[in-house]
Amino acid sequence: MNPARNAFRLAAMYVIAAATTAHAFSAHAGDHAYRVDHPAYRQECGTSCHLPYPPALLDAASWRAVMGGLDKHFGTDASLDPAARAGILAFLESNAGRRDTSVNGRPALRISETPRFLKEHRKEVPAEVLRRPDVKSFANCGACHKAADTGDYSERGIRVPGGWFR
Ligand code: HEC
Repeated sequence: MNPARNAFRLAAMYVIAAATTAHAFSAHAGDHAYRVDHPAYRQECGTSCHLPYPPALLDAASWRAVMGGLDKHFGTDASLDPAARAGILAFLESNAGRRDTSVNGRPALRISETPRFLKEHRKEVPAEVLRRPDVKSFANCGACHKAADTGDYSERGIRVPGGWFR
């Protein structure tokens, strides 16, 4: 076989191997188990008002924007003392998603407005499900993701009230 062809084959094999590895990584990310285990984060942001949202579903700029506006947090004053705020922000930043979550050039403040979330939910969840009193809105992740409190969003834990229509 001529050497150029041989080199081409080798390169092609390398590309296939790299693609397979990348696939293995994304399959792992596909477990949809996210870290939500920071005690102060769970206590301040994941107990009384809503569950602990996975830091990985917003990027660091989004978390800085959320944590920079706690005095006007979706209609509530959710201010924290500076030390608690800094500790929680550090956890959020170090576990933030790498995918850009800006929308129209501004950091998204809600997971449910990010393109990725909309892609995963818009088709699968009919509008009437969101009107149910046991669901109310997409912010209520635990209505459909039964293990959301532990950061587990895997498919086996999904039960959509009223049925899941594909
Ligand atoms: C009304 C029900 C409902 C609510 C509320 C809801 N989800 Fe989902 N979610 C679904 C369904 C159904 C799917 C499956 C989509 C698919 O796999 O096709 C899904 C998929 C996902 C996935 C991908 C899982 C996978 O295996 O593909 C993630 C991550 C996720 N949701 C996060 C969230 C977060 C975070 C919230 C709250 C901010 C939330 N969801 C609120 C119904 C819901």
